[in-house]
Amino acid sequence: MRHEIAALLAMTVSLTYRDARGSMTKAMGLLGGGLEKEIIGKYTMPGIGFGTLGNVGDAGCALVEAALAEGYRYIDTSRYYGNEEAVGRALARSSVPRGDIWVTTKLLHPRTPPQPDLVLELEKSLRSLQTDYVDLLLIHWPNPQVSLEWALGEFAALREQGKTRTIGVSNFPTNLLRQALEIVGDLAANQVEYHPYLNQRPLLDLMRERGLVLIAHSPLARGAVLNDPVLKEIATRRQLSVAQVVLRWLVQQERVVAIPGAVNVEQLRENLKVLDVTLTSDEMTAISALARGMRIVNPPHGPAWD
Ligand SMILES: NC(=O)c1ccc[n+]([C@@H]2O[C@H](COP(=O)([O-])OP(=O)(O)OC[C@H]3O[C@@H](n4cnc5c(N)ncnc54)[C@H](OP(=O)(O)O)[C@@H]3O)[C@@H](O)[C@H]2O)c1
Repeated sequence: MRHEIAALLAMTVSLTYRDARGSMTKAMGLLGGGLEKEIIGKYTMPGIGFGTLGNVGDAGCALVEAALAEGYRYIDTSRYYGNEEAVGRALARSSVPRGDIWVTTKLLHPRTPPQPDLVLELEKSLRSLQTDYVDLLLIHWPNPQVSLEWALGEFAALREQGKTRTIGVSNFPTNLLRQALEIVGDLAANQVEYHPYLNQRPLLDLMRERGLVLIAHSPLARGAVLNDPVLKEIATRRQLSVAQVVLRWLVQQERVVAIPGAVNVEQLRENLKVLDVTLTSDEMTAISALARGMRIVNPPHGPAWD
């Protein structure tokens, strides 16, 4: 039996394919559609992560620790969330080895000083996170007051020094992402809002062409999609929750990873289970047809969107 499982796993690995840059991309499993993850060069980003916005202090630390115990291997934070220290305590307390966890943080939020010493800032984050490196460092938002050339140059140098394994951006629409890619051609990811009510097709096309991963933030539209009749019908038929249908729709797409937030262990557990199911192409199409330009995260400092 163990040999059969090993053989199945080997077949699963052999089903990975290559993107335009020749990098291995999504590992589509034979095992019930599970095992979704994205390959970025020599690194592997899990298909589902825990988004920690709002999870601060001891309670935040406890929820991150619970997420790791439940099987999450991707934790998303930011300097701006004020919880790197809480996340760091959870990483230190968890029995999961650091090397098995994908940690993303972000610097350069428009509400923080525009020209910080990025070497010192990342050192500060690493100290709080109790780690020697992060897996992904993102520019939190585009900001006309911040030179993209300077910021990405600094980020690339930090990657060179091993302080971060990969680098990328967040909340970058297509035109700004093109500019960023002219400065650093091998960005790993763009973290943007993405859920059934917001079409991200132009951005996704560009990102797939250039081998980037789209990390879907606010993937449940902060609850705004959870009463949708089409999603409810699919959920009932498939014996899933609406949140699971939405998350599955996201992670089943090529080059898409999702980082849902959660307020308790039940939600954490439910959201991770989406790696066990597969939606039909008709279900995928029906969910994509729900897009209606609804943007939940749209602050005054945001860019001109696609
Ligand atoms: N880069 C950026 O600028 C940016 C911006 C926003 C977010 N993010 C990242 O994206 C992550 C997720 O975004 P988000 O937390 O704002 O929005 P979200 O993931 O769309 O919504 C999370 C909320 O949905 C509810 N929920 C979660 N799982 C559920 C389930 N299984 N069933 C029913 N309800 C469920 C919970 O709230 P209730 O139970 O209270 O309803 C939870 O707080 C953040 O934590 C952060 O890491 C990044």
